[in-house]
Amino acid sequence: QKMTNQELTSLPLPPGESGLPFIGETISFFTDPNFSQKRVAKYGKVYQTNIFGNPTVTMIGAEANNFLFRNENKYVVSTWPKSTKILLGDLSLAVKNGEFHKSRRQLLYQAFQPRALASYIPTMEKITEQYINNWLEQKELIWYPQIRDYTFDIASNLLVSTDGGSHTVLGELFEDWCAGLFTLPINLPWTKFGKALRCRKKLLKYIEEIVIKRQQLDNPGEDALGLLIQAEDEAGNKLTTEELKDQVLLLLFAGHETLTSAIASFCLLTAQNPDVMAKLTAEQTKFANKSPLTLDTIKEMTYLDQVIKEVMRIIPPVGGGFREVIESFEFNGYQIPKGWTIQYQIAQTHQDKDIYTESDRFDPDRFSPERQEDKKASFAYIPFGGGLRECLGKEFARLEMRIFASLLLQKCQWELLPNQNLELVTVPTPHPKDGLKVKTRAFL
Ligand code: HEM
Repeated sequence: QKMTNQELTSLPLPPGESGLPFIGETISFFTDPNFSQKRVAKYGKVYQTNIFGNPTVTMIGAEANNFLFRNENKYVVSTWPKSTKILLGDLSLAVKNGEFHKSRRQLLYQAFQPRALASYIPTMEKITEQYINNWLEQKELIWYPQIRDYTFDIASNLLVSTDGGSHTVLGELFEDWCAGLFTLPINLPWTKFGKALRCRKKLLKYIEEIVIKRQQLDNPGEDALGLLIQAEDEAGNKLTTEELKDQVLLLLFAGHETLTSAIASFCLLTAQNPDVMAKLTAEQTKFANKSPLTLDTIKEMTYLDQVIKEVMRIIPPVGGGFREVIESFEFNGYQIPKGWTIQYQIAQTHQDKDIYTESDRFDPDRFSPERQEDKKASFAYIPFGGGLRECLGKEFARLEMRIFASLLLQKCQWELLPNQNLELVTVPTPHPKDGLKVKTRAFL
């Protein structure tokens, strides 16, 4: 039952520190990879900090995730730093809440349902093959930046019919726009934010021209953009051109750094674990020359699926998410006041020793049908978040990762080059400091 206001305000606030005036603990939050770990050790799974000038409570673990994901729009709503909100735009799904959010999600989902995903496979396969051939020719390379180009090329092909997007003006504008997403929102000619705002205008214009051209065709096509243009809900609502521009920009962004990180981590962890690599390669021999791939074939790659799951458990591309408290509530005996920010933690949730045996070990078998460790509690495994705001592109991401991994394992062997720093940088998403230097060789 619900507590009275008085009962609630008599509860203690969560323990923790508020850091320096104004900036709080923002800097160490972004630069210290062990920020959360240290605080959990000191204060437990619910602690107070201060990020972006807001009192913030970090809530960790399956129980906390359950509470937050089930109370979306009741106690909490999604929130983003101010710079992100402005650069994503007013119409972006990411900044909407409540009923409107729900209805827009339904429309956008039409580009992510199984039939749509199946139609993206040939494009994904083609681009993946081009990149792999190129990596084989290079023999030695710094992989991470090239994986970024790769994921952007797929997204820009499917979302804005632009081939080789990373090497076009679109790619350039997008980079500068991204650089402003998590900054102080000061619009001056020389600030990252100011530059990003100007790029946003140009990006929207670029997208608009493509959208309008498409809308004029009799058949807008079956790629993601075509499906978004045609998307309609039961009430007959469609996405307006203005809205399409913001949503396309959001989708370009949401899948870019995240997928890049996941794929780079896959390459890293498999290279470091030869036994896993051997099992993966053995599984892929069953699928050699099965091009074009189908969703059914991909579903049979069960060991690969376990490995990808474990990659995202141990190095989740997104470390957590933010919520704003819209009504004060009690959690674990603490008072969580209205107006505060909540952070749910993905990386720390995935390190819960009660759920995952030897949680620091890379062990894909923990997801085998016999063990299924993640099923011990709901929301114990949340690389894609959960509830009403669970990642919209989850299946798209899983598909691209599996296509990438399958083709790579069939065509290429790779090993890490010596003398490189493999420590993970966490901003914007986790990746090795020196960009992952590898040697490639055609698979015989
Ligand atoms: C939301 C992770 C790829 C589109 C999210 C959230 C997470 C996440 C954790 C929830 C954020 C929150 O709770 O506030 C990931 C990971 C990916 C990935 C780990 C890759 C491995 C993609 C791709 C797309 C995409 C490829 C689209 C092409 C979205 C969108 C949202 C979202 C639109 C916002 C949903 C909403 O607010 O209702 N993602 N994502 N993501 N993701 Fe992803």
